[in-house]
Formats: sequence, structure tokens, C-alpha cells
Amino acid sequence: MPDKGGFPHYMLKEIFEQPKALEDTIAPRVSRETAEVRLAEEVRIGSEELRSIRRVNIVASGTSRHAGIAGQFMFQDLVHLPVDVDYASEFEYRNPMISRGEITIVITQSGETADTTAAQREAKKKGSRTIAISNVVGSTIAREADGVLYTHAGPEISIASTKAFTAQMAVLFLFAAYLAQVRGALSESERKKWIAELQALPKKTETVLEQAAECQRLADRFHKFESFLFCGRAIHYPVAMDGALKLKEVSYIHAEGYPTGETKHGPIAMIDESLPVVIIATCDRNDAGSVLRYEKNVANIRGFKQQSGKVIAIATEGDTELPGLADHTIFVPHAPELLSPILEIVPLQLFAYYMAVRKGLDVDRPRNLVKSVTLE
Ligand code: F6R
Repeated sequence: MPDKGGFPHYMLKEIFEQPKALEDTIAPRVSRETAEVRLAEEVRIGSEELRSIRRVNIVASGTSRHAGIAGQFMFQDLVHLPVDVDYASEFEYRNPMISRGEITIVITQSGETADTTAAQREAKKKGSRTIAISNVVGSTIAREADGVLYTHAGPEISIASTKAFTAQMAVLFLFAAYLAQVRGALSESERKKWIAELQALPKKTETVLEQAAECQRLADRFHKFESFLFCGRAIHYPVAMDGALKLKEVSYIHAEGYPTGETKHGPIAMIDESLPVVIIATCDRNDAGSVLRYEKNVANIRGFKQQSGKVIAIATEGDTELPGLADHTIFVPHAPELLSPILEIVPLQLFAYYMAVRKGLDVDRPRNLVKSVTLE
């Protein structure tokens, strides 16, 4: 087992390893000269077949499924293909209408999750090609897939998944960009722009990690609360769900992840001074495509405040409006929306970590959980 490298827990070490995990995952797959994405040898499905793919299915469990939901946005935006995302544990029960001419992406840190293995076998039985995204070389799911895209995050020891999650999103983005490249869905200049943004992430993640002390202060302030609501819209929704899952897992505090707009259809009834809301509100007001969403986030925060809710906002560096509305604001560097989840989750991982530490819990080995769930 690797040592903790001077960190008090593996979870904190692994959170801090994210810049390297991203760099190791991205750099070998992208040509420095042409920004071409090189995945042919790993995908092991010919270009002609990839050009005829009609649909992408994603199956996974827990945090890996959250990465899959972010991936759905990436594939739909870059490749213009319809994408379904399923809980692996629910997959077989909905008689998935999968057939030849489709790809099923199976995401799993461990490569051994029983629900995910069963879903992969079901997809194969129905004639779908399968691509595994795994952090463990030679794992069952990797061996059974047509192609494997490994996350090069290094061993993840802490039960709560952190660096594997951000690496999974980076791999999903690379695969979407590769498919777009093969299918001619992105111009060369667009691809170059996207790849430059992807390559900028490891450095930007380092900047986010500089906020660790701020996240620790938030945990000092909030560790006695018994319930939290996390919300985000569009691609920020899976980040909200993962922030909530991390908090539940390691600190045993109840938390729910919700699409921001959906909060008015029920959960808002719960909001008062005892239910803090964490809102992912990084939409860029200066970007024509997201002005409306920015305004909606502002209106949501005002609504939560009117109900005496305590609001923690995750905002983009340079945002001067949200800090005036929210009780606390954590900033992340600007990134295009498809890539910003990789930055946004980092302060939420740190928050969950410091909450658990503050409560004196066994952060790396939360009760009732195991690193890979090998029973269905
Ligand atoms: C959350 C967590 C779990 C796993 C889930 C799937 O922090 O670790 O939710 O994400 O059990 O595991 P893998 O990715 O190994 O299939």
C-alpha cells in the first residue's frame, strides 16, 4: 500500500494528487503538435464502425455514474449523439433497448463492481460494443470490454472516490473529442481550442487546491448541521450529487443533490436556517450562452436567502455579484462549462473531508462501505 506521503489521510492525499492524475491521464493521449486525440489503440473499434454509431449508453454506479452524467453533456455537445445514462444496478430491470450500432461505456474505478459487471454483460448480450473506463489495469470489467480507456490516477486507497472521479471526467471528454474527431463533428480549430482548455485543467486544479484552508474554515463553521442540500443545473448537477454523496459517505451527514431548478418543486419547503444550501453557480455571466442560467442562479440564491437559508456558492473567479448574495463563496478558475465540473468538485471533496475530520471520523474507511462492491 502506498504511504500517505505526509498527509494525515489517504483521502486528502488523493484530493491533492488530482493535478498529477489529470496530467497523467490527458498528456499521453494528445499530440502536442496537432492537438489530435490518439485513442485508436485503446478503443480498439475501427473508425468506420465508430462513424456509424447511433447512440451512446453509459452505465456505472455511485460516483462513477456521476462522471457518466457529466459525460452525457460532453458526448451530446461535441459528438451530437443521443446518450442514456443508467444506474448499473437498475439497468437490467428496464429492459434496456440496446442493439448493434451502439456503444455502451462502462465506468468503474475498481473495475470489479458487481452491478456494473452485470450491466456490461447485459449490454454485450444485446449486441452493443462496450468501452470500459477503469483505474485498475486488467480488472474484470476492463478484460471483458472491447476497448479500455484507463484513468491514470494511480491507486485510490480511500473509500471515497476523488481523483478517480476527476480523471474519469477527463477520459470521457477525451473519448468524446476522439469520437468527434473521427466523425468530423468538430473542426480542427474547435478541437484545438477544446484540447488547450483540457490541458489547462491540471494547473487550474492546483489553484483550486489553494482554497483548502477556506474549505476547512467552512467545515469549522458548518460541522454541527445535520442536513445539506446541494444543487446545480445542467452539467453542474452531477457535481452537486457527488458533493452530497461525499458528505454522506465520510461525515454521515444527510445531504441531497438536486437539479437547481427542481428545488422549487418540493425541497424548497425544507429550506430554513437549519438546512444550508450549496449551489454550484459557476455559469459565466459574460458568456452569451449562459447569461440566462446565471440570472436563474442569482434568483435561486435570493429565494434561498429569503427563506433564511445559509448559502455556500461555488462561483467563477472574478464574479463580483454572487459573494454579495451568498453567505460564503468558494472560487474556481474559469473553464468552459463542459470542463468546469472537474474544478467544481474539488472544494466539495475538501469540504466533505474536513467535515469528517472535524467530527473525528475514520475518513478513509467510513462505516458500512467497502472500496469495491462485489455483491449485487
Ligand atoms: C463514492 C464511491 C462509490 C463508488 C461506487 C462505484 O465515493 O466510492 O459510490 O463510486 O461504488 O465504484 P466503482 O467506480 O469502483 O465501480
